[in-house]
Amino acid sequence: MAEAGRGNSTATASMKELEAQVKTCQLCRLSKTRTQSVPGQGNTRTEVMFIGEGPGYHEDKQGLPFVGAAGQFLNELLGIAGLARDTTYITNVVKCRPPNNRDPMPDEIAACAPYLERQIALINPRVIVTLGRYSMAKFFPGERISQIHGTARMVDGRLCVAMYHPAAGLHQASLADIIRDDFRKLPVYLEQSRKVAAPPIEVAEDRVEEAVEARESVVYEPSTGVVLEEPAPQIREEAAPTLQPTPQPEERGVASSTTPVGRSKRAPKKSDYKQASFFEL
Ligand code: URA
Ligand code: SF4
Repeated sequence: MAEAGRGNSTATASMKELEAQVKTCQLCRLSKTRTQSVPGQGNTRTEVMFIGEGPGYHEDKQGLPFVGAAGQFLNELLGIAGLARDTTYITNVVKCRPPNNRDPMPDEIAACAPYLERQIALINPRVIVTLGRYSMAKFFPGERISQIHGTARMVDGRLCVAMYHPAAGLHQASLADIIRDDFRKLPVYLEQSRKVAAPPIEVAEDRVEEAVEARESVVYEPSTGVVLEEPAPQIREEAAPTLQPTPQPEERGVASSTTPVGRSKRAPKKSDYKQASFFEL
């Protein structure tokens, strides 16, 4: 494929390097309780990346994402979307299993964020599918999954689609068909994403830097992982335009107060304004 940052052998080599770093990472307390970390799995040439929450019991044992019951359902959903699993890339917000599958803490998410940002930059996917609350919060701050599931929004030049976590369909049978219907829309989203310019790689690289800075300078309350102090916000120049570059003032307000990652309480940046409105199929 022609687009920069997508599908070259350098990206594959760098991903292997990153996966090796994650394997030995000890940057947060989750390293103490994991069996092994779960960097991610798939094809760096993919146009579609899936981001879950964090490894569960089986993922922690096998070192691979979505291999338990939720993974079985995800496989079915990928089939519905017409995607072969090994043509996609699948990863999580945190790469190590939180004990007893508790929610990841804000400092753990921030510690792990540079890995995720780097994976996004290396793959430079056209479409990111968020699975569950924590990956949704990164791209759809302040939104509720019950309101936005199955819808998409341009963020940093790529189409982000909010999906229920597959496990939600296992716990609540009534959701399973809703999730299937949402995944049926994915081919259309992918088609739409191909009609706009490739995502600007510079923006993704900036995100990596921001995440590293946040990791190094954010101060946390040790027992809860709650953020006490954050780095000063930076203002960045406007990058490439997206589908609908109209500012959404109400989104900006929410964005600056609710994201649980390192960027959470910073002042809005110009890049935030590049979030286009939702569109539904
Ligand atoms: N749930 C997730 O969010 N990720 C996995 O890898 C497995 C289950
Ligand atoms: Fe490192 Fe992420 Fe694992 Fe924490 S969760 S130890 S930051 S790889």
